[in-house]
Amino acid sequence: MNRLSGSLRKAKLRIMKDLELRKLLVRCGWNEIVLDLDGDGSADVCFSDERGDGDIDTIAIDLTGDGEFNLYLHDADGNGIPDTVLWADDGSEELELLAFGSGVERELIDIGARVRNLLLAEDFLNEEFNMSLTDLSGFMKEHLAELIEEVNKMVNAEGIDKVACFLDKVGTYYLATMDEDGKHPRVRPFGTSLLFDGKLYIQTGKVKNVSKQLAANPYMELCAFDSESEKWLRITGELINDDTIEVKRAMLEKNPGLKAMYSAEDDNTQVLYFKDATATFYSFTEEPEVIQF
Ligand SMILES: Cc1cc2nc3c(=O)[nH]c(=O)nc-3n(C[C@H](O)[C@H](O)[C@H](O)COP(=O)(O)O)c2cc1C
Repeated sequence: MNRLSGSLRKAKLRIMKDLELRKLLVRCGWNEIVLDLDGDGSADVCFSDERGDGDIDTIAIDLTGDGEFNLYLHDADGNGIPDTVLWADDGSEELELLAFGSGVERELIDIGARVRNLLLAEDFLNEEFNMSLTDLSGFMKEHLAELIEEVNKMVNAEGIDKVACFLDKVGTYYLATMDEDGKHPRVRPFGTSLLFDGKLYIQTGKVKNVSKQLAANPYMELCAFDSESEKWLRITGELINDDTIEVKRAMLEKNPGLKAMYSAEDDNTQVLYFKDATATFYSFTEEPEVIQF
């Protein structure tokens, strides 16, 4: 048990290191994690929680190293042991049922050549990480939430960057808030934006109606259009006041023209960050791209 937890720790460090190095590949959504364990840029193992109960129920492995998963171990009853094993010779298009029934993992031994591939997967894990498929599955179960959180952070970091760059590029966006009577939407041009400490900020003056409206009702929508790419962006969510002097200073540094009217220490300057925001990029030709941050 000690030897096992030692090797799991080692593997965890490796995986977390890879997360930092962005060698982890992410596919499909929050409930699927694809790992590039050897860091060669191609996916090796995929863990997914298709039931959505926080436990891994499918492990897919790229045994041939061609970037396609060809071995799927599926644990339908959630007992931690794969009960369906699917194999595809050529990527994941045509899957063949190798075995079915609880506890099949060990009973595959007599299926001949194809089983070699399962054993190869074990060998790879054994040699590289000193762990078996079952160990790895257990490890992933234990750390799934943590990994998903890391993955989400990475995905968000990339997403929020893209949103911030778009706002910088277009220069002007249109911010809509609701009037305090709750009946009249108000929209006006805005231009400030700043990525600071992982959050996306905008700037205004507390004396403005827009500020009073957001204080009464933080829900807003903004829209911006980039004529060069013919893409437009909508962000919906909340805007939350932040009185930290450092952010205000950074905002004024980024927009030095504002210094004639605002200073980080005055009572008027206000910066607000997006909370629970959904940014959607649209175009005439592509499917919308949604980014949450
Ligand atoms: C191109 C452009 C960019 C602007 N950017 C901002 C901004 O980032 N922050 C701001 O408070 N006002 C900005 N303004 C001014 C606001 O649009 C203006 O003060 C507006 O009246 C505020 O809305 P309100 O009257 O509902 O408070 C900008 C105006 C223009 C024309």
